[in-house]
Amino acid sequence: MSALDVTPAQFRRLADRISSLAEQWLADLDSRRIAPDTTGAVTEALFAEGLPEEGLKDAALEALKPVMDGSRAGNARFLAYVFGSGEPVGVLGDYVASVINQNVTAWRSAPTIVSLERSVVRSLARAVGCDGFTGSFAGGGSAANLMGLAMAREALAPANEEGSPSGVVYASSEVHMSIPKAMALLGLGRKNLRLIPVDSEWRMRPELLERAIAEDRAAGRRPLAVVATAGTVNTGAVDPLPEVSRIARAQGLWMHVDGAYGALAAMALPDAFEGMSLADSLSMDAHKWLYQPVDCGVLLFRDPGAARKAFSFSGDYVRTMNADAVEGFAFFDESMELSRRARALKVWLSVRYHGLAAFREAIRRDVENARRMESLIRAAPELELLAPARLSAVCFRYAGRVPDSERDAFNARLMARINARGRAYLSNATLHGRFVLRACFVNHRTSPEDVDTVMAEVLAAAGELL
Ligand SMILES: Cc1ncc(COP(=O)(O)O)c(C=O)c1O
Repeated sequence: MSALDVTPAQFRRLADRISSLAEQWLADLDSRRIAPDTTGAVTEALFAEGLPEEGLKDAALEALKPVMDGSRAGNARFLAYVFGSGEPVGVLGDYVASVINQNVTAWRSAPTIVSLERSVVRSLARAVGCDGFTGSFAGGGSAANLMGLAMAREALAPANEEGSPSGVVYASSEVHMSIPKAMALLGLGRKNLRLIPVDSEWRMRPELLERAIAEDRAAGRRPLAVVATAGTVNTGAVDPLPEVSRIARAQGLWMHVDGAYGALAAMALPDAFEGMSLADSLSMDAHKWLYQPVDCGVLLFRDPGAARKAFSFSGDYVRTMNADAVEGFAFFDESMELSRRARALKVWLSVRYHGLAAFREAIRRDVENARRMESLIRAAPELELLAPARLSAVCFRYAGRVPDSERDAFNARLMARINARGRAYLSNATLHGRFVLRACFVNHRTSPEDVDTVMAEVLAAAGELL
């Protein structure tokens, strides 16, 4: 008998206790303060003892409550970053993924889960209008973007064998930081990322993309790929995908769409994402606008051969020995990961439980909530809207009774004040060099009444500061 053995009955007892804690946590989620009222010293002190030499048995669970209480980002009025709400059936799917602890490497070692993931990927691709794409789950949008650009590089400027890759990548000036990071990690270099200016609605200007490509060619450089964003992190802008695709095709460039924030909203708003299916690769985050618990990114691509060119390095010990297309399939041939959690399981369970229609409806509700906030901002003379709410991000700031030169500092203090009051949680963005408050709706719990509460909190916090 191992010292680590837990009998099925003991497991059930522990799981029941954790289920009770989870039930209470969910029941209280929207009524308790969002930002925990704590300090760095307090949170460090919670764990100062480190890990024990002797096991605490059931008493080990007692320390879970402060950990759970200190984590409330699923709250309906937590509108910071792009943070999905941790849909509870998806949570249970994640639990099952840990129970079966299946390593989703290849069909031969994980047949059912590999087929499940392939099916979920195909279904999501179809749901966002990219029928025929395949792909795989990944840690998140950053990992999916890195893989998309690795595929672009190997397709057009292979470095797998020779090293020293080169090439220029184009993206709008609103690009997410994961793209310059991917440039650096792939050895392409951050200086080879060209930032194309945006129009008045924060979308890439295609004529300037075309000009930048021509300038690079004239200077003897090799244009490699365009990254179009389908939902920029600041304002939710969707680049003009049909025009970007036309240019990419005409110039022989790879087109990657960073849809980490927005792409899954194509399930509900297909018109806003016209041209997305013209991409060669597309990233999207089910832990954002499909409400799944982190981590749950997805990379879709049109050509599995291009994925294998970038990622297939099979050594003997993992070589699959089967000619059958399904039975010979290995995710490690099409992804940068080898050991992989069964991330698709939570999506599968969550969508089977609720149905795709319920997700489309939740996405539409988020968009309506953003529009509601936008109109409340327009109606408030002391507030200024900084970008139209095209998807579900709203950027605004307090302008009344504060001189222009002090508005950045005032709004930074205002954000801290709003969050410290504990009933709303916002983050910030920089637009035209100005500090703005930002709310992003990707939470299925948020209601129109929550939007009204958040706006009341903004004005109350401003009143406190003035
Ligand atoms: C547009 C965009 N791309 C990429 C990412 C990175 O995604 P992840 O945090 O899942 O790595 C984000 C995250 O907010 C994003 O908004």
